[in-house]
Amino acid sequence: MERAQRKLDHINIALKTGQQRKSGFEDVSFVHQSLPGISLDNVDITAEIGGLTLSSPIFINAMTGGGGLETEKINRELAIAARETGMAMAVGSQMGAIKDPSQEASYKVVRQENPNGILIGNLGGEATVEQAKRASDMIEADAFQIHINAIQELTMPEGDRDFAGILSRIEEINKNLGVPLIIKEVGFGMSKETVEQLHSVGVSIIDVGGFGGTNFARIENERRSKILGYFNEWGIPTAASIVEAVNVSPALSVVGSGGIQNPLEIAKSLALGASGIGIAGHFLKVHKESGLEQLIREINYIHDDFKIIMTALGAINISELRKAKVVISGDTYHWLTQRGIDCTSYAK
Ligand code: FNR
Repeated sequence: MERAQRKLDHINIALKTGQQRKSGFEDVSFVHQSLPGISLDNVDITAEIGGLTLSSPIFINAMTGGGGLETEKINRELAIAARETGMAMAVGSQMGAIKDPSQEASYKVVRQENPNGILIGNLGGEATVEQAKRASDMIEADAFQIHINAIQELTMPEGDRDFAGILSRIEEINKNLGVPLIIKEVGFGMSKETVEQLHSVGVSIIDVGGFGGTNFARIENERRSKILGYFNEWGIPTAASIVEAVNVSPALSVVGSGGIQNPLEIAKSLALGASGIGIAGHFLKVHKESGLEQLIREINYIHDDFKIIMTALGAINISELRKAKVVISGDTYHWLTQRGIDCTSYAK
């Protein structure tokens, strides 16, 4: 019951604490080109993420399940929105259902509502291969996420304190699961060192889960009496984290996520080298405040405006958009320069 209550707390406190808008995208500017040379009607947003072909690079990132009927209803409606807009969708951590099978319905509902959609399962770094297989089978997953979230766990009053062995468990799951594996952060970002470690054990899809949007240190601090305030500002902003990750190896597929809310931030993330985009907190807020129909309208608006931005940039498809020129300035420039990454390659 404690776990199920935590799932409801996360939703309510995430909505209360909101999105920080500190992901660094204001430091990234497109270089305007006056002769785009393409027609909006021909813009194609089909995306490839680590062997998965998606009709949109944008997907609904992991949020919920395991909190009884309330989370079942949210997952049902997110799955309907995904189905109606052709988007992929991840469920929240399925450990709740691994430990308590009565919670399975709150996850299985996504496959019932979206039998032909691309669905992504989710567990934490403590998961075994056997648990990952059960969770993947539970929703007939097309891909699977393992979240790594040390700062959230350390801030969570009842969280894990032992992070030994995660990399070798990830290696085993990656070898044995049978569907593409995505390793994701949850809003603290990933450094190039972390991405190198993951790449060295065979991981090929990274979701940077950058800082600046939903903040799980703030969420967990709301749930504890002695506040660990120093973690509230801890993390690598999303724009910098995408660049850190994509510079590790061209063989990696990088998902940009963490505070992404609008089509311009999506386009900037792809121009920085991401192949896909995960959005969590913004979709949850639209759904909670305005309902399913408005969420579908919001996703359609994002897709329409994203294509308009691609047209302005002369990018007929996602691989052209990933070559669009950007200038990186401000804190993101300073961060990346000190980290030994040459920002000028994005501008030339
Ligand atoms: C999350 N997130 C998350 N991630 C994960 O891998 N497993 C999970 O169970 C959850 N649960 C969860 C609940 C709620 C209410 C929210 C808002 C988010 C994290 C999410 O997938 C994402 O990484 C972060 O929220 C950062 O992205 P946004 O929200 O800034 O777009």
